[in-house]
Amino acid sequence: MNRTETRSTEVISVDAHAPAPASIDRAAEVIRDGGLVAFPTETVYGLGANALDATAIRSIYRAKQRPSGDPIIAHIYAIAQLEQLALAIPDAAYALAEAFWPGPLTLILSRAPEIPGVLAEGMDTIAVRMPAHPVAAALLRTANTPIGAPSANRFTRPSATTAAHVLEDLAGRIDLVLDGGASNIGIESSVLDLTGEPKVLRPGGITLDALRSVVPDVKMASRFLGEQELSISPGQMLKHYSPRAQLLLYQGPSDAVLERQAEDCVSAETAGQLAGVLALTSDKLDFPANTLVERLPDDVGLEGVSNALFAAIRTLDTQGCDMILARDYGRSGLGEAIWDRLLRAAEGKVIDVL
Ligand code: TXA
Ligand code: MG
Repeated sequence: MNRTETRSTEVISVDAHAPAPASIDRAAEVIRDGGLVAFPTETVYGLGANALDATAIRSIYRAKQRPSGDPIIAHIYAIAQLEQLALAIPDAAYALAEAFWPGPLTLILSRAPEIPGVLAEGMDTIAVRMPAHPVAAALLRTANTPIGAPSANRFTRPSATTAAHVLEDLAGRIDLVLDGGASNIGIESSVLDLTGEPKVLRPGGITLDALRSVVPDVKMASRFLGEQELSISPGQMLKHYSPRAQLLLYQGPSDAVLERQAEDCVSAETAGQLAGVLALTSDKLDFPANTLVERLPDDVGLEGVSNALFAAIRTLDTQGCDMILARDYGRSGLGEAIWDRLLRAAEGKVIDVL
């Protein structure tokens, strides 16, 4: 499964709003030839292969060093492709597609029998998303095949929101990176299961309230409710999004959390450890001088926070932090998705501050 495979990785810079057709043609050719192309989407970078080519899809798992058991989203540019991939599509899917596509919403539907099971790890479902990024849309249109793409990071690393992050994790393992600048949402799509009662399997770029404005009975999967989220099975929870540093996640009133974090940074310094803090731009900080701080902009609600989150974690990690201190930003709107990613990075452990 983790067989090493060396490829020379070409990087092509493209205009995020108006990518040059020749660059898109080149990337589409690589996809059609069964190769691997990392491309920007509005959420995070995806690592794409032809979704109808089981061999190409298998090579994604090798490049990411991702164990099997984690199914892959098929990306499309037109609703007509949905009908090629899925069966018995419920009305709710069309209503949601109308409201949120192209955009950060992934729908789980029943899989059409001719679609390779490897995408869905043998399950009889398929995940489908129509991304909004002009580069992703142009690539999908030109390749004229659905593209299977997980986030373009190595397994267990934070998702990549720039081409530099992709290269950090995957240089020499994939054929091409389309560099279209930073992803603007910065956190992955919401995953909504429509094969039964509508259920959010992963909170993301489209908030629960927004989903409920179209399909009122959408529920959160039970693992997001209360205590159960901490007892989730390891395979689903642990070692996702984890930086090399240990991520410490604090929950409680922000003043009390900042005070406790400052104390813990003093202890870290005494122990000769390097601490890094994820703080909001508006936080007033009183940390020891050698603490590294990455500011997440909170002047426009939580959008700036989600946008900067993975890049900030990678930066602190690259600077050699032994520990990264993060905190809860509430659960409303994008807060739920941010909390989900931080909780996974912290491997499910929360430090409660009263
Ligand atoms: O924003 C995104 O969704 C990004 C961009 C590249 O589109 N992609 C992404 O892919 O985050 P990935 O592989 O890192 O996460 C896909 C999520 C996983 O939580 C996976 O379990 C879920 O979608 N998923 C995929 N296929 C599924 C299926 N058939 N049933 C249930 N969950 C599925
Ligand atoms: Mg991922």
